[in-house]
Amino acid sequence: MSEIIQLQKIKKTLTKRRQQHTLLDECSLSVNQGDMLAITGQSGIGKSTLLNIIGCLDFPTQGKYLFDDHDVTKMNIKQRNMLRKKHFGYIFQQYLLIEHLSVLDNVALALQYRNPRQNSCSESKKILNEFGLSNHENHKPNELSGGQQQRASLARAIITNPRVLLADEPTGALDAHNSHLMMKTLKEINQSRDTTIILVTHDLEMANYCKRTITMESILGKAVAHE
Ligand SMILES: Nc1ncnc2c1ncn2[C@@H]1O[C@H](COP(=O)(O)OP(=O)(O)OP(=O)(O)O)[C@@H](O)[C@H]1O
Ligand SMILES: [Mg+2]
Repeated sequence: MSEIIQLQKIKKTLTKRRQQHTLLDECSLSVNQGDMLAITGQSGIGKSTLLNIIGCLDFPTQGKYLFDDHDVTKMNIKQRNMLRKKHFGYIFQQYLLIEHLSVLDNVALALQYRNPRQNSCSESKKILNEFGLSNHENHKPNELSGGQQQRASLARAIITNPRVLLADEPTGALDAHNSHLMMKTLKEINQSRDTTIILVTHDLEMANYCKRTITMESILGKAVAHE
């Protein structure tokens, strides 16, 4: 199996009220293509920050990040944006669907963002059907249940067929039934599409759906500095 993501001694410092804080220190991790990985760890330790660095939404202060052996830390903004657009899909705890757009338009927009010339409507309808949301495609997000909104945000994330799907507490706002449904769907996506999935969760029962689980402590080379 080939390594798609390698983090080598990643450091992240933040400035808060003019004081420097080290959040991630000597953080090393490697992820194979097709892996399904859960990241757990105490609140505030830096899980979301790490996920954002992996997804090129944030940038490390020091260290090396290799994606397919290409050094992301040496890329300019344009190259990183290209990488993000081409290879990553994201889902978040709070769904982050665009409220004034229909479910169909939310999903179609992701496809258009990737390729403005693509006919996004039929593809979007197809994936919403797969996710049991055909009857809701013209509804606005706030007309859907939490589980349906999360499935819509998953449809939006995978419609571009990303190689890596990043999920930050994807079941955090869902009840037990919908949480298991979401994890089963993620597992199916991992198996049928060979999508590499990295998810953050507090819930060890949800982590059990993954091929492996790591705690933040185990991938931080040094103690994490807290405020
Ligand atoms: N842009 C920022 N500026 C200043 N501080 C930040 C910033 N982003 C994150 N932090 C701080 O970094 C710490 C880690 O944040 P992060 O969101 O990565 O933790 P987490 O492990 O995901 O926590 P949780 O489990 O509660 O979601 C927190 O103390 C947070 O306040
Ligand atoms: Mg978080």
